[in-house]
Amino acid sequence: MKNPLDTEPISDLRNRSGNVNPLNAIRKNHRFHIYVCDAIEEVANDLPDRIDPDRCMRIADTLTRELPMHHADEEQGLFPLLKKRSLPDDRMPNILQELARQHAIDSDQAAELLDPMSRIATGKTVKNPDMLGYMFRSFVETYRRHLIWEIEFLLPLAHKRLYSEDLVDLKIQMMNHREKPAKLMG
Ligand SMILES: [Fe+2]
Repeated sequence: MKNPLDTEPISDLRNRSGNVNPLNAIRKNHRFHIYVCDAIEEVANDLPDRIDPDRCMRIADTLTRELPMHHADEEQGLFPLLKKRSLPDDRMPNILQELARQHAIDSDQAAELLDPMSRIATGKTVKNPDMLGYMFRSFVETYRRHLIWEIEFLLPLAHKRLYSEDLVDLKIQMMNHREKPAKLMG
């Protein structure tokens, strides 16, 4: 079976004529990011002597490519639509502001993680494995919490609130993000 880290999680969005519900694509992408968190946690558990360099390189590549894409899909695509369609009781402006704040923290933590992940991927000695393991687990803990909250609360609400024309807009935005992808800088 192909390693999920080697795949593009929502490659079907590259096909402009395909019939993809963008909310289902985001959910698929969330699941992929949960898998990345599991992989980072395994690296933390394997420090310092059982490192799989190949897996570390794939994790670094995946974070560089997929994390900014997730944030762009939501902050430029999903969040403005949810803000427009939500009801006052949804308290959406406050929630979206908090999620965007979490994205900024996750990006900063992921950028800090890239350098050590790439270093151990190229066989460099791990000087302080306990500290590195703590850093990896901290990222996983906060990022996983963010993803689960979006999976369990935000996406079900989006399915209820967004109109069919919103889904068309969101899909186009997500396709555009894949044509000119941003990259996370470590
Ligand atoms: Fe998010």
